[in-house]
Amino acid sequence: MTFSATPEAGPVNPQATTPAEAASRPLVQIDGLTMYFPITSGILVSRHVGDVRAVDGVSLSIRKGETVGLVGESGCGKSTVGRTILRLYRPTAGRIVFDGQDITRVEGSSLRAVRRRMQMIFQDPYASLNPRMTAAGIISEPLEIHGVSSGRERRDRVRDLLATVGLDPDYGDRYPHEFSGGQRQRIGVARALALHPDLIVADEPISALDVSIQAQIINLLEHLQDEFGLTYLFIAHDLSVVRHISDRIAVMYLGKIVEVTGSRDLYERPLHPYSVALLSAVPIPDPAVETRRRRIILTGDVPSPSNPPSGCRFHTRCWLRERLGNPERCVEEEPVLREMATGHQVACHFAEEVDGTVEQVQVTGRPGKGAPAGSAGGGGPAGAGTVAGGAAASTATSPAGTSLAR
Ligand SMILES: Nc1ncnc2c1ncn2[C@@H]1O[C@H](COP(=O)(O)OP(=O)(O)OP(=O)(O)O)[C@@H](O)[C@H]1O
Ligand code: SF4
Ligand SMILES: [Mg+2]
Repeated sequence: MTFSATPEAGPVNPQATTPAEAASRPLVQIDGLTMYFPITSGILVSRHVGDVRAVDGVSLSIRKGETVGLVGESGCGKSTVGRTILRLYRPTAGRIVFDGQDITRVEGSSLRAVRRRMQMIFQDPYASLNPRMTAAGIISEPLEIHGVSSGRERRDRVRDLLATVGLDPDYGDRYPHEFSGGQRQRIGVARALALHPDLIVADEPISALDVSIQAQIINLLEHLQDEFGLTYLFIAHDLSVVRHISDRIAVMYLGKIVEVTGSRDLYERPLHPYSVALLSAVPIPDPAVETRRRRIILTGDVPSPSNPPSGCRFHTRCWLRERLGNPERCVEEEPVLREMATGHQVACHFAEEVDGTVEQVQVTGRPGKGAPAGSAGGGGPAGAGTVAGGAAASTATSPAGTSLAR
């Protein structure tokens, strides 16, 4: 079942709206976005035997100038969401509306026109840059493909772009191997900026970089956002990376969004058991709090997206379900994203039970609901509505394989 986390998409004809409406509508709105990759078998005659359900009914909106972080474990479908929004894939189902225009099925010149406005920055700058092309060639390629400028004007534009991303404009005739990792990613950023895009999908843009360089690239992206009014979908597999750059964060698990809320809210009050587990891996820069925290280690394999678990896809690894006595509802009924507070949506039948649990209190490092001041992360009893929270906090390994590791 698909649930729209956002209001219904606006009109599909951008011309049919007033300037005020155009300014207030989201830049991107996806509703029930679904992307299945077929699995085939047979050598001579290929038979369709199943699907990798990479993205399965995802709804999300991104406002103009906003940065939305998309986070989840490897293989949960983050890149596929990004690539499908950019229409590098033809979605299996659902709808993509970009700046008021339904682009779900556009092709040909209409697709090319919209692609100019959406660009991607990739994880591995070395793999994504053609080693046989100079930096100038790489950066000017989108201009060439879209027939934008030529000759002197194009060369000047490339020099401008190199300077914009903090590289020496004279470096244009160098090859990718002559740059450091951080510099290569700057070239990737310059290429993405070449056509003055509105949306940039940054797919783990700093994961392959040294920690010392990561902050520089994040700062550059933030600076460029301010300068050019860019909108970002920022993909990462760990919550610490998206914390500062994101206005809102969507957490994905096995092809679905399980929680979406403001960045600060997610760190202060995560309400999905999976988000709590992800957050437990993010250090808090306060030694007093940090020593009292325990990491929630999700054991068990991540289920296959070609055969996801019934009901709630997270039920095979969920610490809360176990705490609640393994209710059948989690196995039988798929939870929909529901509004727990303004702008805070969670897909868990028992999200109310997460609030104030020892796990939530510990990962956020803040006092839980009903917890005395100063007890944050101290392993004290959980707040109202929590089942056996205190007992779990003092247990090294819980029965169903979810560990609370110091
Ligand atoms: N072109 C494709 N053909 C078939 N399966 C694919 C294709 N692209 C992705 N998949 C599968 O879809 C699922 C989601 O992949 P995706 O790359 O979107 O995940 P991800 O969250 O970006 O992972 P990572 O963090 O490792 O980059 C995976 O099971 C992957 O193997
Ligand atoms: S619906 Fe059940 S299995 Fe899914 S996250 Fe909530 S408690 Fe866990
Ligand atoms: Mg990916």
